Order: sequence, then C-alpha cells, then structure tokens
Amino acid sequence: MKTILITGGAGFIGSHVVRLFVTKYPEYRIYNLDKLTYAGNLANLSDIEDAPNYTFIKGDITDAKFLEDLFAEVPVDGVIHLAAESHVDRSITDPMAFVMTNVVGTVNLLNAAKNSWVANGFDGKRFYHVSTDEVYGSLHNPEEFFTEETPYDPQSPYSASKAASDHFVRAYGNTYKMPVVLSNCSNNYGPNHFPEKLIPLMIHNIRNNKPLPVYGKGENVRDWLYVVDHARAIDTIFHNGKLGETYNIGGFNEWRNIDLVNLLCSIMDRKLGRPEGTSAQLITYVTDRAGHDLRYAIDAHKIMNELGWEPSLQFEEGLEKTVDWFLNNQEWLDNVTSGNYQSYYESMYANR
Ligand code: NAD
Ligand code: TYD
Repeated sequence: MKTILITGGAGFIGSHVVRLFVTKYPEYRIYNLDKLTYAGNLANLSDIEDAPNYTFIKGDITDAKFLEDLFAEVPVDGVIHLAAESHVDRSITDPMAFVMTNVVGTVNLLNAAKNSWVANGFDGKRFYHVSTDEVYGSLHNPEEFFTEETPYDPQSPYSASKAASDHFVRAYGNTYKMPVVLSNCSNNYGPNHFPEKLIPLMIHNIRNNKPLPVYGKGENVRDWLYVVDHARAIDTIFHNGKLGETYNIGGFNEWRNIDLVNLLCSIMDRKLGRPEGTSAQLITYVTDRAGHDLRYAIDAHKIMNELGWEPSLQFEEGLEKTVDWFLNNQEWLDNVTSGNYQSYYESMYANR
C-alpha cells in the first residue's frame, strides 16, 4: 500500500496523472493537493472524484505550516509535484506569483517531505519534480536538441522559476540525500488544456469566429506531446526512474506555430462543415511575446532507451482527438472562459 501526494492535480497535466494513478493502482491511496487557482478545475476529475482510493485536499504550497501539518497527518510515501504557475505570458506581467508558487512552494514541499521522512530514513520514499524543457533556454541551430546534459539557460520568468525549483530539488538530493527524481518535458496538448495556451485558445477562437493571435511571424517552434503520453512517462519515471536522475520527455514532434495553426484551421473547417480556408482567414499576426524563445526540441532517447517509454500517438491523431474533445465538451470550455467553474466547484467542495 503506497500513499502518494500529487500536487497540482486539478490542473491540465496533473488531472491526467491523478486519473492514471487512481485507476491503474487501486491499491495506492492518492491525495490530490491543489489550491484551485484560475487553472485548477475539479471538473477535470469528475469521472474519478468518488473513487475509494482518491482524496482531494484544497491547499496552498506557499503555506509552509499547512504542509507540515499535512505531512504530520498523512503518511506520504511519494510526492509527485506538478503544482505551479505555468503560463509564460502571465510570468511576464506577474513574475512574483511564479517565484512564490514555483520556487518558495517547491522548497516548502521539499522541507515538509524531508522533515517528516528523515526520522525513519528515506527508504521507500520518493520526491518527483515535474518540470519543463524551457529551463534549457532557446535553440537556434536546427541540428541541436535539448539533452539531459544541456546547460540551464532560462529566458523567461516562468522558466527561471522552474529552473530554480529544479536546482533546489537536486540540492536537497545532494545535501540531505533525499530520494529525488526529475523530468523535463516539452509542450503538452490534449483534453482539459487551459484555453490561454496556444492550441486550446486557437480551437476556442476558431469555433467562435474570433481572431487567431499569432505572435511575431509565427516562426517559433515547439515540440508537442499528447498529455496522456506525458502522464504515462511520469508513471514510468516515478516507478522505475533512477534516484538522482533527470529524464527529458518529448515526442520528436516539432511544429512552427503558423503551420500548427493552419493545420488546426483545416481540421476545424472539416469538423465544423466550413469550406476549407475559412478559419485560416481569422489568423492575425500580433506583437511578439517579449523575449520569445525561438525553438524547443527534446532528445528523448534516455527515457526511451533506459525505461522503455515511447509516445503512443502520432500528432495528427492526437490533434484530432483533442479537437473532438473540445467540440464535445463545449460546456467545459464555456465554463472555463466565463470563470463559472470556480464558483460552482468552490460551493460543491464547501458542501462536502
Ligand atoms: P496548470 O496551470 O494547468 O495547472 C497547475 C495546477 O497547479 C492548477 O491546478 C493550480 O490550481 C495548481 N496550483 C497553482 N499554484 C498552486 C499553489 N500555490 N498551491 C497548490 N496548487 C497550486 O499547469 P500544467 O500545464 O498542468 O503544468 C503542470 C506542471 O507541469 C507544471 O509544473 C509545469 O511547469 C509542468 N510542465 C507543463 C508543460 C505544459 O506543456 N503545460 C510542459 C512541461 C512541464
Ligand atoms: P504557449 O502555449 O503559451 O506555450 P509556451 O510559451 O510555454 O511554449 O505558446 C506556444 C507557442 O505559441 C509559443 O511560441 C507562443 C505562441 N503563441 C501564439 O503565437 N499566440 C498565442 O495566443 C499564444 C497563447 C501562444
């Protein structure tokens, strides 16, 4: 019997990780700790919320006392830490929120886990930090990929805060011999993606005939991975990753933003019964993001060769599934864009 604390489990990736662990490991006890910020939405987990091995805890990782109390009460064996501020554009306008949650929150969580584990030794314990490839900075040479040896060179307040948290996790592994493991993943897409990020924003705007804001010339490149494949990789690393190691996760799937938006337009034209080319007319080039990283591309050979993980979906198939999910879950999207989901779930949680 293992007790696992997953942080950020009401968010986009966290909800897929929680679902995978709750359904695949009925013998585990899964706690989902989430503050329910604008990005946290319990509707993402409505299908498993009554599972007997699942408990939701509302809480803030910037609150050290709350975490100490939680670890005193719950016998946590493993932590899978995803809670974070995750949007680069927001980090440009409000960097301190990223320092607080991503850096201070991660150190609070490390302290709470260390203090509760240290008395009985670290045997059987594991602290897994889920991070991003953005810590490596921006690639300019088309031959280059991010490997686990690429030096950190974060360029945005978001990636700087994630780099700092990665460094703290490794420092706790080195200094206190805490059993830590990390992964750095490329851009995710799929169901429950918050519509401030490129793919769900474009799907939402195409459906509503709104302009499609492409930053700069649309030439920036991202390496896209289906979110369920990321959750599978997290499961693999949590169970089989070597302590102290870092694993890069990606799908060898690079797309220029403008090509991706055009592909989405064409899929949406077909699904909505619009003549081909209709949605692409909505494309609007807008002022570039400040300090916009040119290209991210992951070399995922280490996790593939050492742990046997590989992506299960081709991009076109994943994108079709994603578009279908958003078109079939318009209520989810409307609730998120109107902000209704927060008051609804707040009151539901208060009544429990
Ligand atoms: P998200 O923004 O969708 O979800 C973040 C979750 O964390 C939300 O549920 C939010 O309520 C919660 N949270 C935020 N602040 C909190 C706090 N102070 N205390 C407790 N909970 C808090 O993010 P996501 O896209 O699902 O990303 C999850 C993790 O994966 C992040 O650590 C991110 O850096 C990392 N990551 C994301 C991507 C990506 O493409 N989205 C890629 C690689 C790595
Ligand atoms: P985003 O989904 O915010 O992820 P990240 O910045 O973490 O990679 O953005 C993906 C790419 O799309 C990035 O190059 C910025 C660009 N972009 C746009 O062109 N328009 C938009 O409205 C958004 C949100 C992003």
